[in-house]
Amino acid sequence: MALKRIRTKEEYEASYAESVKDPVGFWTAQADTFDWHQKWNTALEWDFETPNVRWFAGGKLNITENCLDRHLKKRGNKLALIWEPNDPHERFVRLTYRELHEKVCQYANVLKRNGAKKGDRICIYMPMVPELVIATLACARIGAIHSVVFAGFSAQSIADRIQDAQCSMVLTSDGLNRGHKQIPVKRVVDEALETCPSVLKVIVTERLGWAVNMVEDRDVWLHDELKLVDKHCAAEVMDAEDPLFILYTSGSTGKPKGVVHTCGGYMVYTDYTFRNVFQHEESDIFWCTADVGWITGHSYIIYGPLLAGATTLVFEGVPTFPDAGRFWQVIDKHGVNIFYTAPTAIRSLMAAGLDHVLAYSLDSLRVIGSVGEPINEEAWNWYKIHVGKDRCPIVDTWWQTETGGIMISSMAGVTDEKPSHAAWPMPGIQPVLLTADGKEILENEQEGLLCVKFPWPGMLRTTYGDHERCRQTYFSSYKGYYFTGDGARRDADGRYRIIGRVDDVINVSGHRFGTAEIENAINQAKGVVESAVVGYPHDIKGQGIYAYVVCEKPIPTDDKAAIENMRGEILEAVVASIGRIAKPDKIQFVTGLPKTRSGKIMRRILRKVAEGETSNLGDTTTLLDPAIVDEIKEGKL
Ligand code: WTA
Repeated sequence: MALKRIRTKEEYEASYAESVKDPVGFWTAQADTFDWHQKWNTALEWDFETPNVRWFAGGKLNITENCLDRHLKKRGNKLALIWEPNDPHERFVRLTYRELHEKVCQYANVLKRNGAKKGDRICIYMPMVPELVIATLACARIGAIHSVVFAGFSAQSIADRIQDAQCSMVLTSDGLNRGHKQIPVKRVVDEALETCPSVLKVIVTERLGWAVNMVEDRDVWLHDELKLVDKHCAAEVMDAEDPLFILYTSGSTGKPKGVVHTCGGYMVYTDYTFRNVFQHEESDIFWCTADVGWITGHSYIIYGPLLAGATTLVFEGVPTFPDAGRFWQVIDKHGVNIFYTAPTAIRSLMAAGLDHVLAYSLDSLRVIGSVGEPINEEAWNWYKIHVGKDRCPIVDTWWQTETGGIMISSMAGVTDEKPSHAAWPMPGIQPVLLTADGKEILENEQEGLLCVKFPWPGMLRTTYGDHERCRQTYFSSYKGYYFTGDGARRDADGRYRIIGRVDDVINVSGHRFGTAEIENAINQAKGVVESAVVGYPHDIKGQGIYAYVVCEKPIPTDDKAAIENMRGEILEAVVASIGRIAKPDKIQFVTGLPKTRSGKIMRRILRKVAEGETSNLGDTTTLLDPAIVDEIKEGKL
């Protein structure tokens, strides 16, 4: 039984009203559309104090049966997955639901053969190849908890994540293609595993055909293992509240935390939002350009589309290889109907010139979407006119790793859109704006802290191994609310506009970093005493990383060689500790940081200077050494 999709603004409004009046009735009606081995005992149990949120507890299911087995009868020969390789001349791959099902079952048997079982944590560090999707689903098939780590993170980052979750297995590949580059993925894993005794097995997918180091009794090739297994694999029966996956994300303090999502609620929520936001039709080809290493890839490359029986396109490459027309070429090549990408990609392709996009028809497109950071009006308009040809609705989808799926967005062609406004809350989502002292702002045309006051099925349940951190980060700032860390404004009609983070998280090309995380990395460089990192507006990346660094031996501002040398050390330290994606865009050497008498760094000042606003820095009288501000202003990059 499939529920009707929302098709009109009136239906949206009615549905929204109903979802607030009777959230449990609303979501159980959605949940009823899936295959369950056993229905739940309690639809919802919750308090935002502990916090404790449980949806459909006691319900028994396996999400892969709902992604795959359930579709075999009607959609067995339908394409489930299209894979477009990095090199446009390499053959693409297409898998039907039947084929994908078989491959997932085989991979699941390989996992079992190598000792994996329900509840184990398995780290996946792989390029965007079909085996990445298959591996992820194979974990879910046997009830193992996947922890996908973006294949651009450093060995140190992988090791941190593996240790935190105590993973027993790593699924990886020999290497990966990214544009012109080839990257030795397995070598990075080997380095990480030097400090990860919990890992007993590594399964390696062949991508580049490289001879790689294989550790005896630990490392096996996937292609060898596949010869030894059966193609049938019964799905492990899971409780709705059993963890499905862990995904690490950065917060304002400390190391990245493992956001935990569970099987039942996440399934209901990703399916619902996928079908309604994108207005998916049975024959559509859907393409989300994110990497599976981020939540967007989890929810809208793998789970949402497959739950809905859609055809999902997986792209291995980058938007600018072999040239800045690649996205548009792929859309024409595969007849993509729904295209979902990030503002940073739109801005960089916009900067590459119109010729690249005008060379393609893009006739197949019906809906286009944006995610990951605020989309500025200029980029929104360019996307609308040159990609959407002024006929495709744009969905600007606001959500987070922690929310599991889209929270605020227009529904394509159903509810209205407005540039730079994510716009309308999904049915079942009750956003509020709070003042700094926690009062709900009821009027429109106001700005406040974005919180959510009622649970939804796709929300995080905990942070792995540290529930207290989950409580503190999301539920302690404002009692009774989930705090998003974002600021937002409501316009006169009630549409939401996301302004950006109000905490020490910066969003660089749609990737989240804690400023403390980058500072820790910089401080690893030899000769660095301390550092302070802030974000600043960047034309392409949304935010750039600006680092103020204090060295043991002050570097004279005119000593170019010494500056270059130290810069090199710092960049190397960041690449080693996090990865290339976190490299600071600007590094300014300073002799001290603006600190209050109690030693707190006044980031407000650093942010203003980085933004180029040096005249109005506000009150600096509480600083220990106000003179430092002049030095910082003078040396601004
Ligand atoms: C930001 C990505 C404005 C926001 C799905 C959020 C957005 C953070 C939008 C989450 C949007 C995401 N408009 N800002 N449409 N979408 N953000 O966890 O600051 O990687 O808190 O999840 O990205 O990033 P995350």
